[in-house]
Amino acid sequence: MGKINVKIFKPFGSSISMQDLPLELMKDFKADLEMIRQLPEEEKQNYRFGFKLAGGLGKDGEFLITPEVMLKWKRNYFDEVIKSYAESHYPNREIQRITINSAWYNYQLKNQWNPLHTHSNFAGIQENPSISTVGYLSIPSDMKPIEGEKEHNKFSGCIEWREGSEGMFQFATYKKEPKERDFYIFPGNLEHQVYPHNSEEPRISFSFNAVIKFKPID
Ligand SMILES: [Fe+2]
Repeated sequence: MGKINVKIFKPFGSSISMQDLPLELMKDFKADLEMIRQLPEEEKQNYRFGFKLAGGLGKDGEFLITPEVMLKWKRNYFDEVIKSYAESHYPNREIQRITINSAWYNYQLKNQWNPLHTHSNFAGIQENPSISTVGYLSIPSDMKPIEGEKEHNKFSGCIEWREGSEGMFQFATYKKEPKERDFYIFPGNLEHQVYPHNSEEPRISFSFNAVIKFKPID
């Protein structure tokens, strides 16, 4: 029998893009977070963001990214990768505007975790985000399995996205072990969770939400 030409279509379900973060961005974000963490308490207060978030990272777990740092990298990197994510879904549309409506660091210590959540905000004053993101700044070199974790189902420190219900050819979850410099873009209403880790080092990431507007069709 000759070669059989097989094509598989996966037209349903959310897509997640993954790309590398620029090294300069890594440096800037790490320095910004370090600066914030060393601020005197009353100034640090302005950066605290945990009260708005779903997770269990404690009072020093989430800090806003300094707006100037965020804007610099929006221009130099994020706009480009968001554009390519959006246009891969809408190849005939042109982007008019990308608005980042919140951006923060996640400083996750041993045993801390983020339960299943989305970044939708139906009752708030901000527009619902089109996309959410996560980027990894520092991952413990020894992210040991948490007690009881099975060899065949490793999840320590992983992120897991969840959507719909599973079937034989339909997966409902997608789990990834984070790597430094990985940057993911996904729909803002896609459920996700972060598992605890068991390292003495912090697992540090950042996230932001953005609204994408396309140019009107003539
Ligand atoms: Fe999240």
